[in-house]
Amino acid sequence: MAHEQSVPGTTRKLFVTEYHKYCDHLLRLDGESRRMRFGMAVDDTFVSDYAQRLKDMKSIVYGHMVDGDVCAAAELRPLGTPVHGEAEAAFSVEAKYQNSGIGTELLARIVRSARNRSIHRLYMNCLAENRRMQAIAKKFDAVLEFDQGDVIGRVAPSSAHYFSIWREAVEDEMGFVMAVLDLQRKFLPAA
Ligand SMILES: CC(C)(COP(=O)(O)OP(=O)(O)OC[C@H]1O[C@@H](n2cnc3c(N)ncnc32)[C@H](O)[C@@H]1OP(=O)(O)O)[C@@H](O)C(=O)NCCC(=O)NCCS
Repeated sequence: MAHEQSVPGTTRKLFVTEYHKYCDHLLRLDGESRRMRFGMAVDDTFVSDYAQRLKDMKSIVYGHMVDGDVCAAAELRPLGTPVHGEAEAAFSVEAKYQNSGIGTELLARIVRSARNRSIHRLYMNCLAENRRMQAIAKKFDAVLEFDQGDVIGRVAPSSAHYFSIWREAVEDEMGFVMAVLDLQRKFLPAA
């Protein structure tokens, strides 16, 4: 389902201590991508305040990392109490990396994470004009509903399976190693 990535980098979960990199990524989005991401034009203060609140939202954040920086990201945010089994997802890919399959890969990770957490309804809000987001949502059998200029995509992840749980665990281990390497890159001078 997810297609080959033609760009460098790796996709992994971000640690809370790396959320500033996510904030930097959101601030780097060009005006149009930022409007598509937040559903309206927002300024830097709005983006920084949003990133500050991330820890309280209990989100899972995936980042696509290139040279230690986040160049694309996806958030899985639970809605209500866990018993509701509902969550919202949001995506952002910096302009020069768009249309390379990263958004599709991020959505695949988000759907699997949702599945492993007994989330049976995953919502994605986007502007009606955002055909690219709708195109990737359709790859995951999303039901798209139009609502006053917005489109709400609803995906119903299947139940967790030992393989889906194992796969996420293995990727988290790999992600930890990559995070350590990113940290090393930051603190050790180039050889
Ligand atoms: C929307 C977004 C997340 C998609 O990520 P991406 O990495 O660019 O998407 P991918 O490369 O994985 O897939 C894009 C798909 O859309 C298709 N597409 C591109 N432009 C399209 C258009 N105008 N109409 C229909 N389909 C389109 C591509 O052909 C591709 O499908 P394919 O894989 O079958 O060829 C990214 O472009 C982005 O961050 N945009 C700005 C922020 C945003 O819109 N966020 C979503 C709201 S939360």
